[in-house]
Amino acid sequence: MHRRIIAPGALAAASLLLAIPASAASYSPGAPGIGDPYYPYYGNGGYDVSHYGLRLRYQPKTDELQGTATIKARTTQDLSSFDLDFLLDVSQVRVNGVKASFTHAEQHELVITPKRPLTKGTPVTVEVRYRGVPSTKSAYGFTTWHHTPDGAVAADEPESAWWWFPSNDHPSDKATYDVSVSVPQGTQAISNGALRSVSSKRGWTDYSWRQDRPQATYLATLAIGRFDITTSRSGRGVPVINAYSKDLGADDAAARASVERTGEIVDWLSNYFGPYPFATAGGYVPNTTTGYALETQTRVYYSPKQFAKGANPSVVVHELAHQWYGDDVSLKGWKDIWLNEGFATYAQWLWSEHEGQGTTRQLADQVYSSHPADDPFWKVAPGDPGPDDQFDDAVYDRGAAAIQALRDTVGDHAFFRILKGWPKAHAYGNASVADFEKYAEQISGKPLAGLFDAWLYQPVKPAASAARGFAA
Ligand code: ARG
Ligand code: ZN
Repeated sequence: MHRRIIAPGALAAASLLLAIPASAASYSPGAPGIGDPYYPYYGNGGYDVSHYGLRLRYQPKTDELQGTATIKARTTQDLSSFDLDFLLDVSQVRVNGVKASFTHAEQHELVITPKRPLTKGTPVTVEVRYRGVPSTKSAYGFTTWHHTPDGAVAADEPESAWWWFPSNDHPSDKATYDVSVSVPQGTQAISNGALRSVSSKRGWTDYSWRQDRPQATYLATLAIGRFDITTSRSGRGVPVINAYSKDLGADDAAARASVERTGEIVDWLSNYFGPYPFATAGGYVPNTTTGYALETQTRVYYSPKQFAKGANPSVVVHELAHQWYGDDVSLKGWKDIWLNEGFATYAQWLWSEHEGQGTTRQLADQVYSSHPADDPFWKVAPGDPGPDDQFDDAVYDRGAAAIQALRDTVGDHAFFRILKGWPKAHAYGNASVADFEKYAEQISGKPLAGLFDAWLYQPVKPAASAARGFAA
């Protein structure tokens, strides 16, 4: 992945010098990446976003998306220019109300040069007007936008925003969202958070959604299509909004039998993880053909394939566990993926035990014994798996077995305090595997470096003596 950094225009640079003679030299372009070694060009340097306001219109027939993004941010350095991650065609950019020049650089970088440079520590409003056919755009040779027979879906990890809104695309820069989408009457638009209003005029219906808690860019989702929207409340009062494509055919009953358990499962998980962190919960099942599910914040994306073999509450448990582990407490960097997938998988194990199926102990032993020492499974270190193995089975299964080994090492009392205390300690923030190790040591009072090394960092099968933790 090489990209040429496009220098700001010479003319603009000259006028800057006239406007700000003394300190112009300290203004420099924001970095094209936020500094994640797994994905050097994901996210950007020089600013921190607090809010995305998106006003969009989508035509399912042609897959045309158009709209305006209003981004509220604060600069973290003196900036002569800065990047947003975005692929659609931009017609105008305003920075603090003044037209700015812009150019698309390689892959997904949109480089913006404001008329006046931006001083460190000041608020900035960036308005981007755009349109395009997202399914025709690719970066690094792929697209994650799904054009369906009656609409589209944006839901993928680690990237999906480039196809529908300009962003600082990295989990370390979380923000709140207002998403308004106009769709042809008879079609629905689904996004994160609470549904604030639905209104129709002249053949178009406008759906306005609000996410009022910090949300990572990859957890923002948009689905357009013909959906049946259901609303309910969990026993403990969490409002639940689910949506099912009207086109699920044979998968419809199993999808509803699973996803309608959202409220019950949120309440059950809160016994382990603490109060549900968001104002609404729910999920949606569009008519896509992909195989994965994704923990899009408050509105989980489920592929119909998850329900092809019948009801599957376990996947609902996995994605809802992410609402605490991944969405409320987000990763500092993509190498910290175990904090998401290890814990969401361990939640499925707790559910299995709760359902009278395999216990967490049995499931951990099974992971250990079913993979011989020479199985490539053990070559992936869940604590830093590398970008190519970010979603390898080892991150999930070895990752969950590592959590059982932690439980064996610290004992149930400390373990369940850690499980519930962690989301509280980093509520709406970001944390790393190293932060978790320190936290678990602090709560348990036990040194855990040996355990973490054997289970998360060594590309080999942990010794039998470590299989059930490091308890003396
Ligand atoms: N975080 C998702 C899950 O395990 C995984 C998504 C993987 N991404 C993909 N494009 N397959 O719930
Ligand atoms: Zn997951």
